[in-house]
Amino acid sequence: MQARIRSIRWEADHILGFRLEPLRGSHFPAFTAGAHIDVTLQPGMKRSYSLLNNPSQQDVYEIGVQLDPESRGGSQHIHEHWRTGQVIEVSEPRNLFPLKEDARHSILIAGGIGITPMLSMMARLESLGRSWEMHYAVRSRNRAAFLERLEGLHNVQVTIDDEPETPRLDLKALIASAPADSHVYCCGPAGMLTAFREHGGPLGDRMHYEYFSADTELARDGGYTLQLKRSGKVIEVASGESMLDALLGAGVDVGFACFEGVCGSCRVPVVDGVPDHRDQFLTQAERDANNAVMACCSGARTTSLTLDL
Ligand code: FES
Repeated sequence: MQARIRSIRWEADHILGFRLEPLRGSHFPAFTAGAHIDVTLQPGMKRSYSLLNNPSQQDVYEIGVQLDPESRGGSQHIHEHWRTGQVIEVSEPRNLFPLKEDARHSILIAGGIGITPMLSMMARLESLGRSWEMHYAVRSRNRAAFLERLEGLHNVQVTIDDEPETPRLDLKALIASAPADSHVYCCGPAGMLTAFREHGGPLGDRMHYEYFSADTELARDGGYTLQLKRSGKVIEVASGESMLDALLGAGVDVGFACFEGVCGSCRVPVVDGVPDHRDQFLTQAERDANNAVMACCSGARTTSLTLDL
């Protein structure tokens, strides 16, 4: 669907906030806290961004976009080309990071631009009158986006790395002291997520996290064959291309959005062979089941992979 860029706001160094409004009608499709939309930047280039506004606001989608120095064109394109009034193509919202709305207490942990889904969760929990707390860590004050939305909230702790007088974020202690029935959410850079997953094991299904960028190298070595069970196609994955490149190049319809193994859009069923998983999306149990692969970033450990396509 189409949306118009209503306004663009500087939120912090290298971070812009965008308010989008529906091009037709007065409402966007409803979304739930933690959801994201995919934006189409040009043919074949989509990126996913968390919706950061209150889900009760159906006349606006708000996203925050950080200019990534390692950008493969996504955030750079947005920062350089998006203008107020411009019409852009966006997907309907999808939620891969849902909020457990009836939890007795929720702990929201954000690092850097990982604050965006937490803002929506915070707004939702506040609307519901639920108990929650937020811990937001940033490197420096000028890189702390959306700080003014958190000002005056007694249950928000902001850690600014280069301001030692601000409270330090101790993930291990925070998780260890989480009330027994609380749900704990984390979105931030790879290092933070790794620590969260390491310490969060005892939380079980009360641990929730979302990556916003990959921390592993994408598989681009090629040298294996894709056998498509349903169509009968046989596709060689060449050196330098991804499994997704090879599938799309052969005219196979596969979804995609982030190209980094974090959004789940390019999941493809595996029938035979062993993938070389490089994503952040599949759980260890799903990897062990050996029945799915994220085509944008993963490769093959066997000379051939049979996919249910
Ligand atoms: S496109 Fe997002 S996980 Fe592959």
